[in-house]
Amino acid sequence: MQLAGKKIVVVGGSSGIGLSIAELARREGADVIVASRNAAKLDAVAERLNAIAIPTDVTDDKSVVNLFKSSGPVDHVVVTAAQLRSGPFKTVAMEDVRSTFEGKFWGAWRVARAAEFRKGGSLTLVSGFLSVRPRPNSAIVSAANAALESLARALALELAPVRVNCVSPGIIDTPIRAAMPEEARKEMLAKTAASLPVGRVGLGEDVARLIAVCMTNGFMTGSTIYLDGGALVT
Ligand SMILES: NC(=O)c1ccc[n+]([C@@H]2O[C@H](COP(=O)([O-])OP(=O)(O)OC[C@H]3O[C@@H](n4cnc5c(N)ncnc54)[C@H](OP(=O)(O)O)[C@@H]3O)[C@@H](O)[C@H]2O)c1
Repeated sequence: MQLAGKKIVVVGGSSGIGLSIAELARREGADVIVASRNAAKLDAVAERLNAIAIPTDVTDDKSVVNLFKSSGPVDHVVVTAAQLRSGPFKTVAMEDVRSTFEGKFWGAWRVARAAEFRKGGSLTLVSGFLSVRPRPNSAIVSAANAALESLARALALELAPVRVNCVSPGIIDTPIRAAMPEEARKEMLAKTAASLPVGRVGLGEDVARLIAVCMTNGFMTGSTIYLDGGALVT
């Protein structure tokens, strides 16, 4: 119950991994603020969880400043917000790769700058295992993830005593692949599951439980933790 009574902001809290951490934190008795762009989706989540919704776009400086003006000082901040656009390195549009970095990397940067933490506070960033296990057509995502992991280490020094960590998930079954045709999505997840030592892909709840450790373990800072069902050793 170490999260009971804590004020936690989940940036990207309306879906997937962010939604799972918002649910876990509410179950533990935390006061939760969820932030993301789509206000209708955000309001529905906030109402269901009895949380507070603050519509926010992490690609916009003012929007992020407004989020933390509205929230006031907080105990823990988690950033899962990202909208990824990638493609073959030689031909992917610069607009797409810039937009991927703008949300995933600069978004986390803006959040880290704007948040005001209470004593004992923490910031958890979410990268992804492509940082260390790249695959073709995703160079920008690999680079953004690696940059986030490095940022977490740098901020662990510069924002201390605020603790800053990064969680790097493998393949997690979330709405992030909603745009994929359903059959292709299922096939990809099944193939991945069969290739992993654990025999399954991850769930949002798996990652949420690790993020809860990042928030509550007072000795953890500057760490990047890979949670990938064994993808890095296959
Ligand atoms: N799922 C995986 O397999 C996997 C693997 C490795 C790493 N990751 C990383 O884990 C993180 C979370 O992924 P997920 O699977 O939970 O994705 P998701 O289900 O698509 O959720 C993404 C969340 O981010 C919000 N968001 C996107 N762009 C935003 C912006 N500009 N400003 C504010 N909020 C924004 C979305 O809401 P709105 O669209 O309403 O803004 C949504 O709440 C991402 O960084 C992803 O790269 C995921």
